[in-house]
Amino acid sequence: MAEQARRVRFLSGVQPSGRLHLGNYFGALKQHIALQEEGEAFYFIANFHAMTTVQDPRALSQATLDVALDYLALGLDPRRAVFFRQSDVPEVAELAWVLSCVTGKGLLDRATSYKDKVARGIAPSMGLYAYPVLMAADILIYRSNVVPVGEDQVQHIEMTRDMAAAFNAAYGEIFPIPAFRLDAGAKVPGLDGQKMSKSYGNTIEIFEEGSALRKKVMSIVTDSTPLEAPKDPEKCNVFALYRLVASEGEAGELAARYRAGGTGYGDAKKALLGKVEAYFGPFREERKRLAKEPAYVEGVLAEGGARARAEAQATMRLVRGAVGLPLMPAAAKG
Ligand code: ADP
Ligand code: TRP
Repeated sequence: MAEQARRVRFLSGVQPSGRLHLGNYFGALKQHIALQEEGEAFYFIANFHAMTTVQDPRALSQATLDVALDYLALGLDPRRAVFFRQSDVPEVAELAWVLSCVTGKGLLDRATSYKDKVARGIAPSMGLYAYPVLMAADILIYRSNVVPVGEDQVQHIEMTRDMAAAFNAAYGEIFPIPAFRLDAGAKVPGLDGQKMSKSYGNTIEIFEEGSALRKKVMSIVTDSTPLEAPKDPEKCNVFALYRLVASEGEAGELAARYRAGGTGYGDAKKALLGKVEAYFGPFREERKRLAKEPAYVEGVLAEGGARARAEAQATMRLVRGAVGLPLMPAAAKG
């Protein structure tokens, strides 16, 4: 890819470690898809990272395909964005090693996501510990400028900036220092009012439908304000989700009905169910269509992988030269 007058490069990754939910959509995917219009977008399925928690080979490859279908159905345009699997660019593991040699162990000791994951019972492997180094390599190998992420990933971007600065100080200015961009969706609540997360078992999946979807919406936790009493929409999980899938006018109307009293949470849940169906229905049809075209999906990922890999190899030529490693024989020709 030509480097003259390069546009801002966005990069982000999503782990294939379970079915994606509304928190993932409104906190991450929706913005990723919108940003493909604003600059050069590189998005990948972080299957190396998912190995820190998914050790069933079939589950890993199935979840990788699911994330690919989800992104494509939700509007990722492979002609605009470079969309690929992390593992199709093995150079990223090499850069992770190089970065780990300029990264103090103390930096990783301070990573809160490692501590949180271990507290939740995930095995404290070296991979889990070094997770932020691999993530820094993901970002730096494509010399990305902006990383759109949710709040929980901000510390990882700060660590990436530290690693890039440490490398540049030791070997010369190779890496742009990336910035994070917080996604507007902020925190989407789950069925129980905590942050929606697959590890809390409180999710509504993006492509859930029929009675499974209905059951979940109906089980959203609300307070015990009686039907006729006025209610505060700002304190209600049902309303928080409704606002994401309804228009501003519709959300305003429901808020007014809450405040007036006489609207029960059951009615609000039914309204929410209708809006979720309407919002995701067309994406659902598209996903079903794509699921019948595995060769097309594989082609998109393979082509994205080849483009991403060419970029990564160009960066690794600079890195190898800077640190005093010989160039790879194939890279030496080009
Ligand atoms: P989970 O918490 O279900 O394991 P991940 O940690 O894999 O989700 O998150 C993937 C992406 O989705 C991240 O960018 C994260 O910030 C975003 N995300 C996850 N849950 C939410 C939520 N409830 N609200 C907003 N964004 C979220
Ligand atoms: N750690 C991110 C998450 O769990 C996924 C990820 C891996 C990522 N590599 C990345 C995100 C690089 C942004 C940039 O959500």
